[in-house]
Amino acid sequence: MRRAIIAGNWKMHKTGPEAVQLAKELLNRVSDVSNIEIVVCPPFTALESVAWVLGEGPVKIGAQNMHWADEGAYTGEVAAKMLLTIGCRYVILGHSERRAHFGESNSIVNKKLKAALATSLVPIVCVGEKLGEREKGQTEAVVQGHVVGAFEGLSPADLQSVILAYEPVWAIGTGKTASPEQANEVHAFIRDLLKKSFGESLARDIRIQYGGSVKPENAASLLSQPEIDGALVGGASLDAESFSQIIKAVT
Ligand code: PGA
Repeated sequence: MRRAIIAGNWKMHKTGPEAVQLAKELLNRVSDVSNIEIVVCPPFTALESVAWVLGEGPVKIGAQNMHWADEGAYTGEVAAKMLLTIGCRYVILGHSERRAHFGESNSIVNKKLKAALATSLVPIVCVGEKLGEREKGQTEAVVQGHVVGAFEGLSPADLQSVILAYEPVWAIGTGKTASPEQANEVHAFIRDLLKKSFGESLARDIRIQYGGSVKPENAASLLSQPEIDGALVGGASLDAESFSQIIKAVT
């Protein structure tokens, strides 16, 4: 059985004090949840203070991005070990907003993935097609390109801790969600692809989250799909009550 994982991507929202407040409100609501992996990904500036609030409780902390180098002359960037030493355990890689606004290519995602794995951060690798690509019937080809590109040069053993997030770009922040069946179909396609390239056991065990306008109202129907192992939540994770309702929608 794959353990469900619900992650909140706070994007470029919340100052330090606001993030601390949100983390406290969330902790109050989910302190009794034990069978679900819960992660929040605040902006860099709030990671350390949120890590203090969350302590060893049920909510873990992740970053939204990192650089691939150990250290060096990369003004404005943050390295994996800097994240680890302040209590970060996860990192989102290849989010569509990074691909769209910051030129992040599959090969950059691949370099970051290797660096994250080398420091034992748990990577959440995002893949997903744009609206035009779906309309042209290119969903599978695009998703395949993202997965194969990100996993290039890695073995099934390397990939054991990796989490994938299928996020159709047209569903992110738009209020449009893929139907549970549409999402499940792409998840099944990804699992099949992984089976062919990396073998049965990785394909069976890897967790694939769905992301794109997940809300309390649609969470249960998405999360009840057999191939959907959790959710990567943007907007609705900025409110402790709606995020906790999504967590509790895992059955
Ligand atoms: P959304 O964002 O839930 O606001 O659509 C999801 C994401 O970008 O990860």
